[in-house]
Amino acid sequence: MTGGIERAACIGGGVIGSGWAARFALNGIDVSLYDPGPDAGSVVQAAMVNAERAFNRLFGNARPAPGALSIAGSLAEAVDGAGFIQESVPERLDLKQRVLREIDAAAGADTLIASSTSGLLPSVLQTGLKHPERLLVGHPFNPVYLLPLVEVVAGRDTAPEAVERAGGFYRSLGMKPLAVRKEIDAFIADRLQEALWREALWLVHDGVATVGEIDDAIRYSFGLRWAQMGVFQTYRLAGGEAGMRHFMEQFGPCLAWPWTKLTHVPELDDALVDAIAEQSDRQAEGLSVRDLERARDDNLIGILEALERRGPAGWGAGALLSEARQRMRERSSG
Ligand SMILES: NC(=O)c1ccc[n+]([C@@H]2O[C@H](COP(=O)([O-])OP(=O)(O)OC[C@H]3O[C@@H](n4cnc5c(N)ncnc54)[C@H](O)[C@@H]3O)[C@@H](O)[C@H]2O)c1
Repeated sequence: MTGGIERAACIGGGVIGSGWAARFALNGIDVSLYDPGPDAGSVVQAAMVNAERAFNRLFGNARPAPGALSIAGSLAEAVDGAGFIQESVPERLDLKQRVLREIDAAAGADTLIASSTSGLLPSVLQTGLKHPERLLVGHPFNPVYLLPLVEVVAGRDTAPEAVERAGGFYRSLGMKPLAVRKEIDAFIADRLQEALWREALWLVHDGVATVGEIDDAIRYSFGLRWAQMGVFQTYRLAGGEAGMRHFMEQFGPCLAWPWTKLTHVPELDDALVDAIAEQSDRQAEGLSVRDLERARDDNLIGILEALERRGPAGWGAGALLSEARQRMRERSSG
């Protein structure tokens, strides 16, 4: 079911590493995690609690027996015997390169190594590895145990076979691997997210809107459309019967108007950071991070299930969920 991979290693167990550990373990894969931080064990346990709750709601009894999750005392211990290694240490090039070299030296020569980097180039991460051909980027989305997309990016020295094997493995975990055609900083999704974020920072900086008002503008409107049609298919419909060409004729010229400031970034001085942090605290209305995570997970499950019910095969991310359920049913009955 998991492309022959029965044991995976997670190097780095923060927000993303613990999300990966949960996705692996809940798909029946044994996981060994290494993180030198003092809270490593508790962060992973907290992620597992949320992830198990989500998997129970999605798959109930059909879900496979979870793999064993262990916290390793060293990087070498974690990668020993692993068929797949996911690196999720902080986004610093020097640190990632050092850790990836350590992984490369300790892991079996054909074990795949994927970096969760949000935007560093795999060709740069590969520098100095003994076996650069098995290194690629597998960029996930938080919460990793629920969101299906993983951007798969090859570097100059990555073997096409490694991309294929990683894609197959991620698919077996119910994910949607998106092979990025050209190696480019920040890949596809983070370039898009950052463009929106930059504009949002300007709106706060200029006193046009608070963080809560900006989030309302998204979540009561186009955020609902994006989850199921993205940007281009949504705009096709905005063009009416005449479709995309009409939309481009009507709104294309606006791109030359001074609507947005997407090309530069406001200075993140203390005043702006304080304003954003204080508004964000007020927006949370006393809910803790764990409360908000559970709300987010429940809402995501609701959206995924609504997309699954659309048509016989489901729609977008809902179609993937439908396939994952089917696979789990077959596995538990066979
Ligand atoms: N947070 C997100 O939404 C998100 C989404 C996609 C990808 N990413 C990427 O995932 C990676 C991790 O991000 P995060 O948000 O989980 O960060 P984080 O700060 O929550 O976790 C990083 C973890 O790495 C550990 N660490 C530090 N040095 C280490 C070492 N030498 N060996 C092993 N572990 C070590 C830290 O103790 C920490 O627990 C980054 O590359 C980031 O860009 C983050």
